[in-house]
Amino acid sequence: MEQLTQEIQARAAQLRSQLQQAGYAYYTLDAPIMEDAVYDRLYRELQDLEAQYPSLVTPDSPTQRVGDRTAEGFTSIRHNIPLYSLENAFNLKELAVWEERWRRLSPEAEPGYVCELKIDGLALALTYENGLLVRGATRGDGVRGEDITQNVKTIRSIPLRLNAENPPNIVEVRGEAFLRLDIFEQINREREAAGENRFANPRNAAAGTLRQLDPQIVARRNLDFFAYTLHVPEGDLGEVPTQWDSLETLKQIGFQVNPNRQRCDRVEEVGEYYDRWDGDRRDLPYMTDGVVVKLDSVALQEELGFTNKFPRWAIALKYPAEEVPTQVESVTVQVGRTGALTPVAELKPVVLAGTTVARATLHNRDRIAELDLHIGDTVEIRKAGEIIPEVVRVLSALRPADAQPYQFPEYCPECDRPVVKPEDEAVTRCVNPICPAIVRGAIAHWGSRPALDIDGLGEKLARQLTEAKLVQSVADLYDLQVEEVAALERMGQKSAEKLIGAIATSKMQPWARVLYGLGIRHVGSTNAATIAAGFPNITALANASESEIESLYGIGVEIAKSIVAWFQVPENQTLIERLRSNGLQLEAATSSPSPPSSPLAGQTFVITGTLPNLKREEAKAKIEAAGGKVTGSVSSKTNYLVAGDSPGSKLEKAKKLGISVLSEVELLKLLEN
Ligand code: IVH
Repeated sequence: MEQLTQEIQARAAQLRSQLQQAGYAYYTLDAPIMEDAVYDRLYRELQDLEAQYPSLVTPDSPTQRVGDRTAEGFTSIRHNIPLYSLENAFNLKELAVWEERWRRLSPEAEPGYVCELKIDGLALALTYENGLLVRGATRGDGVRGEDITQNVKTIRSIPLRLNAENPPNIVEVRGEAFLRLDIFEQINREREAAGENRFANPRNAAAGTLRQLDPQIVARRNLDFFAYTLHVPEGDLGEVPTQWDSLETLKQIGFQVNPNRQRCDRVEEVGEYYDRWDGDRRDLPYMTDGVVVKLDSVALQEELGFTNKFPRWAIALKYPAEEVPTQVESVTVQVGRTGALTPVAELKPVVLAGTTVARATLHNRDRIAELDLHIGDTVEIRKAGEIIPEVVRVLSALRPADAQPYQFPEYCPECDRPVVKPEDEAVTRCVNPICPAIVRGAIAHWGSRPALDIDGLGEKLARQLTEAKLVQSVADLYDLQVEEVAALERMGQKSAEKLIGAIATSKMQPWARVLYGLGIRHVGSTNAATIAAGFPNITALANASESEIESLYGIGVEIAKSIVAWFQVPENQTLIERLRSNGLQLEAATSSPSPPSSPLAGQTFVITGTLPNLKREEAKAKIEAAGGKVTGSVSSKTNYLVAGDSPGSKLEKAKKLGISVLSEVELLKLLEN
């Protein structure tokens, strides 16, 4: 019994401390350290314990705070009218889907939109009674927020009295409180000088400021406010049949309204507004993170109403966040199939350009040294072109006092052998040919779509097969038995049979794919196809000199060197012999069947961005099946650029060179023809 009590006491103390820390991070630092749901769970656990054992309640327990989860000094209030948030769209296609959706609900309506900039601050709800500001509150969860009237009253652009002769009984105004960028910088400079942590962005700084208990401090911070919603539940402020009129009225009664609003009749004009402000917003003295598109007609807004979360008549068309800050929790090092060690920062998850990101590449050892990365550092990450996010900089001012510098490993994290870093290369490598990561990578690569295309054989299965010691080389795949595979975890007889079938079928794959599957450094699928066309079989290639290989169009000296070196390794020679006796295609098919129709023969394509339906590999396969060639970079030899979402610099280059740009639909049409 005694034991149990001690345990319970310890647990209660632990919960108190965790909740206190979370509350401090949330309210005072404005840098939450746990999800709301986690906080609520821990809070309830503590409440339950205290209800069971009342002697556990201490005066400083978070459960004893009035107005649960409200910073000391602020009271939680219920909003007169709930504050809805907005559904997000991340591109014009999603905007078109939204338009289609509301039009289906109200097919007769004339569209007519108002576009406003989406200010990146925090929403405030202001209540005026008989023209006087009586309450200012944060949004909170939309239903309940915090009463921060005293702080709101320090914001110069919020009128304390409405400019109206006969003000209505009640007026509710909503808008965005924000900090101008120059003031944000100034605050951060002051904080740094005082040895305090910098605010990560103006929004956090504004939120932190509004939660200050001392209105004097708030007043000094010069917050600003743009009004965007007007509700007149009781009384009259004149006719406001449209959102545009609401904004005009807000201006008349004394609010600052963002001047960069625009009426648009058609969704195409909305698209132009969005594109224009994507560039122009960088010249604004405050942060914006998108465009808010609202149906102008209030009658139509009322007809469409709300879902349980959002208005159906408005949407936030966001710009991708290109760089966001987050914290590095640890660094892991991945070993690729070539033995290259890639350090990856494991992050506190953040939303970057519309997706949640929990990992970002640190590229290599030199880059880490350059960044002077410590575990626990706050870093900024960005989407690197079209690939995975990368760490761009360390915000060293935010470094915790006890943070330790990250040490790049001297030994392979997979096999413990010393790693090698040639002076003139950026990459650190494991050079142990039987390193599990290298073996596993080679097997997964062999099974991949552009290689031997063995359905089901990916990273995961490759790991299982190697760990069970069933496969140590790709040649072992061809000796696998159904029973052995079926005995693996999460594998049944059926899937084992399917896999063995797929492995057997892969013997029919042409010589170019086998060559690519071997994973020789610098031999990608395009190069493999060129080389396989130039050398009728693997023996001819194995006996070729560097200069013979290099004489092929498009094949450079680095590739040629790498191929020659590969064939010199005795293990690789054994591998080829085993593949030969397993029946793989190590030579070009002799009597090639009548060639398939090749409408795109001689045409070169580049694919960029995310296509709406096809995966890149699928698009590539379709183009190649029609006789076209797909390369990685745009040059004067490119005939078509197939562009999806977030196309990056390739699109610009193609436009400059006057190359035809195709959408996915246009590509499919071209293929049909
Ligand atoms: S309208 C029902 N207009 O964006 C109408 N919101 O993601 C809801 N925001 O919580 C809001 N600028 O904090 C609206 N011009 C604007 C805005 C705007 C910024 C914020 C606001 C809202 C969030 C929704």
